[in-house]
Amino acid sequence: SNIAIIGVPLDLGAGTRGVNLGPDAIRYAGVEERLKNIGYNVEDLGDIPVNRSQAFTEPNSNLKNLNVISEVNSLLSEKVFSVMSEGKFPLVLGGDHSIAIGTISGVLKYKKSLGVIWFDAHGDINTPETSPSGNIHGMPVAVLLGLGDKSLTKIVGENNFLKKENIVYIGSRDLDSGERKAMKEQGITVFTMHEIDDMGIKKVMEEAIKIAGDNTDGIHVSFDMDALDPSIAPGTGTKVPGGMNYREAHYALELIAKSEKLVSAEFVEVNPLLDNANMTGKAAAVLVGSLMGEWLI
Ligand code: ARG
Ligand code: MN
Ligand code: MN
Ligand code: MN
Repeated sequence: SNIAIIGVPLDLGAGTRGVNLGPDAIRYAGVEERLKNIGYNVEDLGDIPVNRSQAFTEPNSNLKNLNVISEVNSLLSEKVFSVMSEGKFPLVLGGDHSIAIGTISGVLKYKKSLGVIWFDAHGDINTPETSPSGNIHGMPVAVLLGLGDKSLTKIVGENNFLKKENIVYIGSRDLDSGERKAMKEQGITVFTMHEIDDMGIKKVMEEAIKIAGDNTDGIHVSFDMDALDPSIAPGTGTKVPGGMNYREAHYALELIAKSEKLVSAEFVEVNPLLDNANMTGKAAAVLVGSLMGEWLI
């Protein structure tokens, strides 16, 4: 089967510069070779263009770089939809996590009912009203649910929003107060680090795959590298101690591979400027392997 790699060199949704270099960091870690080795046909479609000339020129401080981010996500959404229409698997490499708006909205245009497993230290469910930073990488889940600025929600489309019962968080450990409120009010399933400690990653994943996969047409994985403990993924902009360890992360993705429900994926928030010899880019490339079934032999 076929995998199409799409790079999104966008860092304007983050508060720290450099995550725009993430797609190449994951490429140079050998992700394409790794996938070819396990039998996939892989094509790298290159990068979605990002017009940096407009960066930080916009007035709205609680939606930083809204115009560029909207433009990039619209293009990404179209690209993901066209890749899926050709029967290929979209593998999106970020870039900051605001690109989940483009990736997931593109998948939602093709698969009306989608489950999302969101690996992240954070909730990324702020709105411009609740965001403490104005950084749009803290807002993509809200946008996908239909909340937030119109120029972002319109990329998803009025009748196309993600359903709150089909999203599951894994690895949460830094939630803003407005995010806790939103998660509670909407009744979203959240497996924090506490649940991973308490239940073990196998049980957590069995429940997550049920929630995201049982009543949907497939599962999307959105993997923020800060879900991992910073000791194994230092190259990311919003590190939080106490994250998933190496085998927890791999085993989690291997169980998703085993479910045979995966339809699309993205790996985001790799920032080589903060890294140690591309450790985090390499971690992402190896995680991609596990997610795509490298260890189901
Ligand atoms: N909750 C914080 C904010 O909204 C941090 C978000 C970090 N998001 C990320 N994708 N790394 O600003
Ligand atoms: Mn995060
Ligand atoms: Mn925070
Ligand atoms: Mn995130």
